[in-house]
Amino acid sequence: MEGAQKAGRILATVLGGLAILAVCGVVAAWAVARPDADPVTAAFERAAARVSALVDSVLPERVAPAPDWTEQAMVVADGDPRKGAALIDRYGCGACHTIPGITRAQGRVGPGLTGFRDQAYVAGVLPNRPGPLVDWLQSPPRHSPQTAMPDMGISEAQAEHIAAYLYTLEGR
Ligand code: HEC
Repeated sequence: MEGAQKAGRILATVLGGLAILAVCGVVAAWAVARPDADPVTAAFERAAARVSALVDSVLPERVAPAPDWTEQAMVVADGDPRKGAALIDRYGCGACHTIPGITRAQGRVGPGLTGFRDQAYVAGVLPNRPGPLVDWLQSPPRHSPQTAMPDMGISEAQAEHIAAYLYTLEGR
């Protein structure tokens, strides 16, 4: 009877193995058919989708600010470029700057202001937008202590007119 016992044990082992394989097969089939049934993976995927949507919503503003930004820079609230030109003449900015459209403005002390509207920074220290430019014109040394451009006692309203004129300056 020893042979029969041995055969029985082998049969039991084989059947047991088959049962385990069957269970594995069912689990595998279930996992393939419903990949998001795993709550951890599903939560992870939902979070990743949300992060990606968030990045999409933020990215356009971060990579392409230039066009809107430049358009915005043209508009100086309450600024009248014609008054600005008159003020530039009156304050004698032309003693230090070459400024297109202003008679006698051919100074070489400071940078030429041709194409100023397309420049990224004001004196390398402030972003070139209306608010910061108006601040700069009212008191350059406050923003750049070593600068050679003096505080000329320009009022905010005057600075707005001057800024409006400077933002008409195109070209190179
Ligand atoms: C005494 C000379 C002097 C006078 C007067 C002067 N500036 Fe300047 N200005 C400078 C210098 C020098 C700089 C460069 C400043 C720096 O980079 O620190 C400058 C910078 C500037 C800038 C920034 C230019 C750039 O390329 O970033 C603007 C705009 C400007 N001045 C406008 C004016 C206007 C408008 C007036 C008249 C109201 C005026 N300046 C009068 C000397 C002068």
